[in-house]
Amino acid sequence: MSMETPPGTLTLRAERVACIAPGVVSVLLRDPRGAALPPAEPGAHIDLHLPDGGVRSYSLCGDPADRHAYTIAVLAVPGGRGSGFVHGALRPGTVVTVSGPRNSFRFDPSPRYLFVAGGIGITPLLPMAREAARRGADWTLHHCVRSAAGAPLRDELAAIGGGRVVVHAADAGDRLAVDALLASPVPDTLVYCCGPQRLMDAVATAAVAAAWPAGSVRFEWFTPPAGDVADAGDAAADGAFEVVCARTGVSVTVPEGTSVLEALDAAGVRVDSSCEQGICGTCETAVLEGEPDHRDSVLSDAERAAGRTMMICVSRARSARLVLDV
Ligand code: FES
Repeated sequence: MSMETPPGTLTLRAERVACIAPGVVSVLLRDPRGAALPPAEPGAHIDLHLPDGGVRSYSLCGDPADRHAYTIAVLAVPGGRGSGFVHGALRPGTVVTVSGPRNSFRFDPSPRYLFVAGGIGITPLLPMAREAARRGADWTLHHCVRSAAGAPLRDELAAIGGGRVVVHAADAGDRLAVDALLASPVPDTLVYCCGPQRLMDAVATAAVAAAWPAGSVRFEWFTPPAGDVADAGDAAADGAFEVVCARTGVSVTVPEGTSVLEALDAAGVRVDSSCEQGICGTCETAVLEGEPDHRDSVLSDAERAAGRTMMICVSRARSARLVLDV
């Protein structure tokens, strides 16, 4: 591994690497000297820097109250660079570079929660359910899996409130009736959903059809939601603009068809990125001057309006010039 340790990253050691379900490996990471780690809210993820220079985001599924360990669970994905490294090369004792934690899937206070997970999408929802239980909130978690026996993190879920967890096992013919679950808005309830695209689309469609209040149904997207893709087609804002890097003094023109991230990279200004689709938050960059044209799925409406940061992998500029804190 020839990679330099970038600033703002952590060097951690894999203490435990274990298969916890078919095709799923859990990795527990600690500081090699036992130092406390930066706090992580439920729903947060870390960025794992791969030996080939790539970066992949993984939700933290351990207990946020444990300040000395981060735990991730990684599903084997054919051809996946991140899962290939975790499943193929990561062993107890392997030292890795990590940045974060970041949180683009914020867990807000509520008297009641409804969690909907599909497969490995349970990872950000487990710490949320744990925190909901700790706060004494009313919560229910629906977990859609291929088989109950192979459900990832089922022991951890059982430990925090097995009676509140409903497992829908496809091999038993039990499929979650999303439309019925969300048929009418439940007062004082936040819905958090993470899983395969088909499940999240079904939840989003059902929530719209039943008129759940804006902001009450939240998703951890793995691909950009359809609405955001449509926004990206705003031709009026697709033209070239200038980006000035306040810290490095570099100035670049971002042409049509090129992202800010790509333009900066070509100019030798490196900003960490992972999804490059505006969904993970890794490339979030502070805006010092100018008006961003937000095209991500990370920032809230209020954060977009404030314009203090932007995801430079997808977002562009409404002003002729942006000054970024890089
Ligand atoms: Fe994921 Fe930009 S790299 S939001």
